[in-house]
Amino acid sequence: MAEEKRPEPGHEFLAKLGKTRLRPGGREATEWLLGQADFTADTRVLEVACNMGTTMVALAEAHGCRVTGLDMNPKALEKARANVEKHDLSDVIDVVEGNALALPFPDESFDVVINEAMLTMLPRDKKAVAVGEYFRVLRPGGVLLTHDVALRARDEEHAMELRAGISRAIGVNVDPLTGEMWLSVFRNAGFEPEAKTGDMTLLDPAGLVRDEGFDGAMRIIRNGLRTENFDRFRRMFNFFFDHGKEFAYIAVVSTK
Ligand SMILES: C[S@@+](CC[C@H](N)C(=O)[O-])C[C@H]1O[C@@H](n2cnc3c(N)ncnc32)[C@H](O)[C@@H]1O
Repeated sequence: MAEEKRPEPGHEFLAKLGKTRLRPGGREATEWLLGQADFTADTRVLEVACNMGTTMVALAEAHGCRVTGLDMNPKALEKARANVEKHDLSDVIDVVEGNALALPFPDESFDVVINEAMLTMLPRDKKAVAVGEYFRVLRPGGVLLTHDVALRARDEEHAMELRAGISRAIGVNVDPLTGEMWLSVFRNAGFEPEAKTGDMTLLDPAGLVRDEGFDGAMRIIRNGLRTENFDRFRRMFNFFFDHGKEFAYIAVVSTK
């Protein structure tokens, strides 16, 4: 029997439409987050879930630091390698296929670990494993920078409805937490976390323009309106239009 083709997860769908930043708080949250670490040419940086390499290229260009980017999706890594070559940064950026749950790096080998828009996708026990791995590979005093979806839920029943709704809308099971629950994940691994939260802007029109520029936002919307993408795009767009205010981004700086 022919295997039923599963729809790609929401972030792959958005990347296909032309979205380069696949994070809940967009550029504003990422800029705040990256501003919390002291990057110099000597900083050893690991970006987990680097996808097409947008952040690591920007960091290497701005600071000349060595960056290792890891992701488990070989197709995203092909784009990352092309992006690194296009910017002529192959001498400072390494691209590695691997899993956040078992990082192929020695203890205490990085000063900064960045992980945006990935922990939300993991079930709770796996979140703890990944954050434990980040703690292991950071040097003492090193910082973990994360950026995820947080729930603005009245109670646990509301939280469960929101988790089910966003999972349906993006076509992949995700487990966003409340702000307090997120901080516990980092504290339980041994980190001292500090957080900034704000509105989720991934798909709102102003956020699209801020993240992708006017032309980029128009291209994404045009692609979303094509017949083959329209149903999926409308479902995601409508969900965030109706429920956007019940979600926030949470950017967390966790010090080892
Ligand atoms: C929503 S995208 C975010 C990409 C990028 N960090 C950004 O902010 O634009 C999630 C990424 O996490 C990666 N990913 C998910 N689980 C992973 C795991 N266990 N180990 C490594 N990468 C993972 C996916 O392949 C995907 O590239």
